[in-house]
This record gives sequence, C-alpha cells and structure tokens, in this order.
Amino acid sequence: EQIHRFKGLNYLEKSLEKELNIRKVIIVPGNSDEDELILKDIGKATSNYIVDKLEKNSIIGITGGTTMAQVAEEMPVYKKKSDLLVLPARGGLGENVETQANNIAAKLAQKLCGNYKLLHVPDNLSEEAMEALLSVKEIKEVVDIMRNINMLVFGIGRADIMASRRHFSDDVVKHLCENRAVAESFGHYFNTKGKIIWETNTIGISLSDFKNIKTIIGVASGENKAEAIISICRLKEDMTLITDEGAAKKILNIV
Ligand code: F6P
Repeated sequence: EQIHRFKGLNYLEKSLEKELNIRKVIIVPGNSDEDELILKDIGKATSNYIVDKLEKNSIIGITGGTTMAQVAEEMPVYKKKSDLLVLPARGGLGENVETQANNIAAKLAQKLCGNYKLLHVPDNLSEEAMEALLSVKEIKEVVDIMRNINMLVFGIGRADIMASRRHFSDDVVKHLCENRAVAESFGHYFNTKGKIIWETNTIGISLSDFKNIKTIIGVASGENKAEAIISICRLKEDMTLITDEGAAKKILNIV
C-alpha cells in the first residue's frame, strides 16, 4: 500500500513539475490545512533537501514564517564545524519572535554548526530611514553578504493573509485587492501571473537578486496556498518547490 502511495506521489511530483514548469517538486503526503502535523513533515523534507544541496561555503538566506520555523526545528544537529553562513533574507521584525527570520537563521546555523548574521531592520521604512540604516557599518556588511547568497529557502504566503498579518493600511490593502495580488514572498506581492504588485520597504534581497540565486527552494503547504504557489513558481523555472499533497492536488485541478 505504501509503495503504491509512494508511486502515486512520484507521479504527482512529475505532473506538478510539468504543470508549473519548474525544475523540481517534492511532495509530502497529506494536507496541512487539515492536519497541522504535516508541517513537521514539510520541515523534515526541506531540511533533508537543504543538507543535500549544501556546498562547502554555502551562504544560505532564509525568510520567516511558521513553515520556515519548522524547517529550522526539524533540521538535525550536526557536530562537524562548517564554514557555511546563514542570514535572514530580508528585514522585517513584525510577527512573533519564533517566526522571525533572524531567529530562524540563527537556529538553522546553530544546527548546521555554521555561522550566522542578523539583520535588525523593521518593515515599512521611509526612504530616509533606509538610507540612514544602510550607512550603519553592521547593516551594510550584512547587505553586502546578502548579494552573495547562493541558496535561498523561503516561505510562500497568500497576499490577503500576509497583508492582515502585517497590519497594512487600508490604502495598501485596496491596492493589493484592485491589482489582484495573490501571493507574497520575501516582502514582495505578486498576481497569479507572477507580476509584481507591491513590495514592502525594507532591506534585503530584491526580485532581481532572487532571479540570480543559484539554489532556490520555495516551501508552502495546504490547499489554501495553491494560487499563491502557482504565482511564485512563475518567477523562476530553475527552482525547487516543496509542498504537500493537498496543495499539489488543488493546483493540478486549477492550473
Ligand atoms: O513573513 C515571512 C514569510 O516567509 C512570508 O514571506 C511568507 O508569505 C510567509 O512568511 C509564509 O508564512 P507561513 O509559513 O506562516 O504560512
């Protein structure tokens, strides 16, 4: 029965790669919308994949959110000191401490026995504040390293949910709605076609940085994220998506 199920998931993965036109899809069984424990499996699958793709001097960028928190949580502890570096991919200190990118980056680095850098920068900065922060030595240093990120592990959210989680003003919500934003990743909001609609004003990787990163791993589960996943997969063909059966089946029905 298990082998049959495995074969079925394999088939789903191949179909999804074709449908979304991306390099690789990994699917874990179940639907995290119905069973929260599936997120743990997503965390495990992602941490295995990260370890598989690590190179000697990997510089890993990671975002925040509950999915990324599970990735750090499920990463096994390695004892051999490594030169790898983990940093948060983008500023933004909102949300709970447990799901902040800084915290997740530090935890992941510790588990991998590597190093980390933090970025203490809030979301929604004015142009002046941004300039001032960029002239701070410690921040400038992180920003420079960020340009060399060669592995990005990031969460994918629904635009509407992320807008309310981040307490956006009515004007911004209206703009996102009118332009049919469906997805959010690394502070950028996109419509179903993957066209950028809006971005939060903070320090961190930009869309053009994203397109140049060698190893891109997007992670999102639950059928409610189907549309958001479709949108983000339009950004780059050469990416890996780690998702669950719930999202995969929903996508294959609606693409
Ligand atoms: O806020 C960080 C972030 O990675 C967002 O870019 C993304 O939309 C969201 O978290 C995903 O959150 P969750 O994994 O909790 O659904």
